[in-house]
Amino acid sequence: MPFPTQRPRRLRATPTLRALVRETSLEPGDLIAPLFVQLGSARAPISSMPGQFRLGVEEAAREARELWNLGVPGVILFGIVPAELKTTDGSAAFDASGPVPSAIQAIHAQVPEMIVMADVCACEYTSHGHCGVLGESRHGTQVDNDATLEVLARASTCYARAGADIIAPSDMMDGRVAAIRRALDAEHLSEVPILSYAAKFAGAFYGPFREAADSSPSFGDRRSYQMDIANRREAMREMALDVEEGADMLMIKPALFCLDLLREARERFNLPLAAYNVSSEYSMIKAAGLAGWIDEARLIDETLMSIKRAGADIILTYHAREWAQRFGK
Ligand code: PBG
Repeated sequence: MPFPTQRPRRLRATPTLRALVRETSLEPGDLIAPLFVQLGSARAPISSMPGQFRLGVEEAAREARELWNLGVPGVILFGIVPAELKTTDGSAAFDASGPVPSAIQAIHAQVPEMIVMADVCACEYTSHGHCGVLGESRHGTQVDNDATLEVLARASTCYARAGADIIAPSDMMDGRVAAIRRALDAEHLSEVPILSYAAKFAGAFYGPFREAADSSPSFGDRRSYQMDIANRREAMREMALDVEEGADMLMIKPALFCLDLLREARERFNLPLAAYNVSSEYSMIKAAGLAGWIDEARLIDETLMSIKRAGADIILTYHAREWAQRFGK
């Protein structure tokens, strides 16, 4: 029986009624904060990401402590190394005294319970900025899938040995979840879960991040390994493969441009689902906020709630700290 019997506005009349019938909740416990870490002591602002910093190891531990106190249960770490340490195979990625293993240890020394995720990829450590080792293929110079698996496996065991609570490969090589799982298990690290960036799209979404992490490819782009934004079925296939290979959790990236995929994945897969609210999504809101064009705080609330409503259990977001500070106020 439609109007006048049906009046959905009845349940929107007061804040209490609206809270009673709210279908989706969001709390600091849903959020993971990305941190850019480098050796030494520093807190250098990232110009393309206002409010974000490149942090020295101790600064990262302090930041983690503050996030923990705000109710944010975890961080994901990205390492930054000087250009002279970058090589064609990205071997600095598995240096046990590099920024990521050092920050894992420093954070756990400060906040033992904090979930420290390690992003696993070669792009921050290769001289050419690609996410793996280059090789000659019938299509010219490209990232060599199987040679890269070795680098990823070594980086994963390095971070897990340093105490990483979750290993999160973001490179988009075929078979990397299985390769990493095998390597971890062979090192008695079978308890360490893998959060796979299962469906990760190529495009302009990661520009500010690449400035922050100094990880832009020096030639070409990432389209021969990251996915075409046009492909929905392929995203489901990538996720299904990662489930088969032993992923413990799945991620979709970027978040806002893939809300449809989050919903579909939520309905298809039973694993916990994460979404990465990426650097450009953050910087666009920040830029408009700084210009005074939008109500920034409310836009952030609505952004994070939309990602949760679409089906994400976990949101990786640069807004984590700021949002958690406002939570409940
Ligand atoms: C590493 C990696 C990237 C991001 C997460 N892991 C950069 C890329 O793929 O170029 C992007 C995150 C962001 O934009 O916030 N491969």
